[in-house]
Amino acid sequence: MARTFFVGGNFKMNGSKESIKTIVENLNSSKLPANVEVVLCPPAPYLAYTAELNKQKTVQVGAQNSYTKESGAYTGEISPVEVKDCGAEWVILGHSERRGIFHESDEFVADKVAFAIEKGLKVILCIGESIDEKKAGSTLDVCERELAAVVKAVKKDDWQHIVVAYEPIWAIGTGLAATAADAQDIHSKIRDYLKSELGELADSVRILYGGSANGKNAPDFRDKPDVDGFLVGGASLKPEFVSIITSRE
Ligand code: G3H
Repeated sequence: MARTFFVGGNFKMNGSKESIKTIVENLNSSKLPANVEVVLCPPAPYLAYTAELNKQKTVQVGAQNSYTKESGAYTGEISPVEVKDCGAEWVILGHSERRGIFHESDEFVADKVAFAIEKGLKVILCIGESIDEKKAGSTLDVCERELAAVVKAVKKDDWQHIVVAYEPIWAIGTGLAATAADAQDIHSKIRDYLKSELGELADSVRILYGGSANGKNAPDFRDKPDVDGFLVGGASLKPEFVSIITSRE
């Protein structure tokens, strides 16, 4: 099954009007492949700004978080409806920084996924193990547990609006990316798990790799059939982001 290659840029809590303008204008002036879906995820205050600056048809905008309510007395939270109103179509949920620093449980992440989809957003769902979990040999257990909560919370059809990002925590921001062979191995097991829950629909779910992906290592993953793209942190803030987008050409 042909799955459209997907590259997400998670700016995390980085950026200013000036730096975001530089990033988006660099993309606007680049020749991007027509068959690669790109999603830029700036900090929430810059969602509308990023969407307005973007001139590329294949580039969309996403938030880095959204809550389980549409509106109300939830100071500091982000409604998926507001995200859409700012011109964004995607949201990253379940990032390890949200799970770890902000103590988001699997169930809370799953509720957010269900609500975001109900309100018309598409979701980049992050999963992945810590270094201790990797050493204990529980990588797949962790990924399956995180996915199982979402399987339980959403309808089967909702998976057409979900992209899974496998991001081993030990690889995030460390410069130590998983090898392409290791990523392929876990991605194919993740797909097997999804097949056991969703049947053939699992063949259409994109599984991205995230964790120190950059312009140099992205081409190493090009012949890996279950690596359907990347979720990029640090390198999405740099001109090399374009090399990741074009790494399948
Ligand atoms: O969401 C992106 C990931 O956390 C990867 O970040 O590319 O800076 O390692 P990184």
